Amino acid sequence: MLHASRRWRSERRSIGLVPTMGALHAGHLSLVELARRENDVVVVSVFVNPIQFGPGEDFARYPRDPDRDARLLGEGEVDAIYEPRTELMYPPGASTRVHVGGIAEPLEGKARPGHFEGVATVVTKLLAAVEPDRAYFGQKDAQQVAVVKRLVRDLDLGVEIRVGPIVREEDGLALSSRNVYLDPAERKAAASLSDALRDAARAYAAGERDPVRLRAVLVARLRAEPLADLEYAELVDAATFEKPGTLAVIAARIGKTRLIDNHDLSIPLPG
Ligand code: PAJ
Repeated sequence: MLHASRRWRSERRSIGLVPTMGALHAGHLSLVELARRENDVVVVSVFVNPIQFGPGEDFARYPRDPDRDARLLGEGEVDAIYEPRTELMYPPGASTRVHVGGIAEPLEGKARPGHFEGVATVVTKLLAAVEPDRAYFGQKDAQQVAVVKRLVRDLDLGVEIRVGPIVREEDGLALSSRNVYLDPAERKAAASLSDALRDAARAYAAGERDPVRLRAVLVARLRAEPLADLEYAELVDAATFEKPGTLAVIAARIGKTRLIDNHDLSIPLPG
């Protein structure tokens, strides 16, 4: 990968990297399109990163379909798919971990201990393997965006982090590789996350600015859905993840499936 990348670099071609764990959907492909518009060369990495999954999480059953992924990317004019084997990423004895701290501690960091350390470690390795000018991340994982930006700044990685908007289904559900776990009843119930964000954005548009009341709007909508089990709902600053702010972030379980979503309440959510 590095050899190919340095050859492109020597030809003065700019390189965009889109890191993914595969099981690609329109959210991933929107990042690929954005990268295509902004770079001469586009690399998509596909790697289900074992160290960002906690014990008891879904690493073993995470959806994997490399042929379908390759087909989808083939249509999008990608220059390379970087699909390292696990033994190559983490050979025996590999023990270094990238710990971001701070912004990585609350919310997802608290709910999933070790998760962001796994993300920061693999992102650092992917950036080292590809040496892109720009790397692309989705706003769907808002805290991941904040963690990666902090990582790049703190370690002087010299890559530009670009963020793509959340791609949603017709009913508002944010696209996710994990949505395939949902049975039909759960799939319907899963719209409660974006419904809650829409309700809160409406309250904000109507003049509500009290974070306690805005949070109550989120919670009320999620509590009204019997199949949803709310893990957290908070209003944070999008850059620092400190309270309060206008970025509403939600995590909830629908049956056994853990879903997250977020929305900046100062912007209406259509639907
Ligand atoms: P993965 O969940 O495969 O997501 C890859 C990228 O697609 C992430 O930046 C994510 O935010 C973005 N994405 C997912 N769903 C989206 C949606 N509905 N709209 C827009 N973008 C969306 O996130 C990871 O993989 C991993 O943590 C990774 C960064 C690859 C490190 O292992």
